[in-house]
This record gives sequence, structure tokens and C-alpha cells, in this order.
Amino acid sequence: MTRVPGSYWDSDEHIGRVVVSQDAIRRRVAELGAQITADYGERPPLLVGVLKGAFIFMADLARAIRLPVEIDLMAIASYGSDTTSSGVVRIMKDVDTDLVGRDVLVVEDIIDSGVTLSYLQRYMWAHRPATLEVCALLVKSGPQRRDVDLRYVGFTIPPDFVIGYGLDVDQRYRNLRDICIYRPDGAPDD
Ligand code: IMP
Ligand code: MG
Repeated sequence: MTRVPGSYWDSDEHIGRVVVSQDAIRRRVAELGAQITADYGERPPLLVGVLKGAFIFMADLARAIRLPVEIDLMAIASYGSDTTSSGVVRIMKDVDTDLVGRDVLVVEDIIDSGVTLSYLQRYMWAHRPATLEVCALLVKSGPQRRDVDLRYVGFTIPPDFVIGYGLDVDQRYRNLRDICIYRPDGAPDD
């Protein structure tokens, strides 16, 4: 456990066990950055981060890539309950960059069903980029997931709801350094 003793997280019974520690994230982000640097070489990609969840991952990944990348951001909302995706996706903020002929690398926080991402991929291909790849920090395993093409994946995790490192419940917990299980009913009695 890497929480700071005495921090306000200590008394929050909704924060469950650590699924991916900040140290593991740091190491994996460095590996992904090195891989992307090697793969793109002479053609630096346009990184398109998907807000809000990917904002911390995007900031770390961009600095792990040793190429003159360009940065853009999209904001999308997937409607549903707090912890399940409904499959209804809406673009709240589009990219500012012209995607035609660009090597686009979408930076996503987490893929659960894959519904959000497949919508996004269809939308982006319509803008005729030269290439379109995805870098997702987390992919949830399980039968809920439809097949989506992911070039770069940080970690595959079990299909539990997680928080931290950008991921939220009702906009909270995004600044947790570790990725942790979310316990909606609080800590179990024992
Ligand atoms: P999908 O469309 O089912 O793949 O859901 C993807 C989106 O749902 C992600 O971009 C997140 O915004 C959100 N999401 C899915 N699972 C989690 C989770 O465990 N924690 C926080 N957000 C999640
Ligand atoms: Mg997302």
C-alpha cells in the first residue's frame, strides 16, 4: 500500500484494494512511451486524449514519448448509471486539429464494453487520418467486451469498477495515485 499516512484517503471506506500501484503505472507508462517512440520514429503522432478520464495518463504518456508529438483533446460523455456504460455516446468537445492524413494515436483511460471506443473509432476514421491507433491504460477482461483493435495496452484488469489515476465516481477520486477497487457499499464488516 502506497498511500500517504494521515492523508484524507485513509478514512474513505469506499476505496478498496490497490489494483495497479503508482509504481507499476510509472514503469508501464515508461515502457509504452519507449514502444511508441520506436514505432512512430520519423512520423510523430498526434496524441488525442479522451477527457476527462485520460487526463493524467495523457500527461505522463506524452512525456514518456521522445518525439515531437502534437497534442489535442476530445471530451465525450457516455450515458448510463454511475458504474455501467449505457452505450450512448455524445461528443462534448471535438478535436481542434484537422485529422486528414495525420497519424492519430487516441489515448484512453479504460476500455470496458468497448462501446465508447468503437463509436470514437468510427467517428475519427470519417475524418480520414492516415493511421489511427489506440493506447489504453486499462482493459477490463470479461464477456461484456466487444472486439476492438488496441495497439497499446497498459494493463488488463478484472471487470471490477476502479477509481484513481484519472478515473472517477461522480467526478471524485481522479487524483488518487494508485488505481483501486471502488466499494459502493463501503468496507465489509469483519
Ligand atoms: P465502455 O464504453 O463500456 O468501454 O466504457 C468506457 C468508459 O466508461 C470509460 O472511458 C470510462 O469513462 C468509463 N468506465 C468504464 N469502466 C470504468 C471504471 O472501472 N472506472 C471508471 N470509469 C469507467
Ligand atoms: Mg474514457
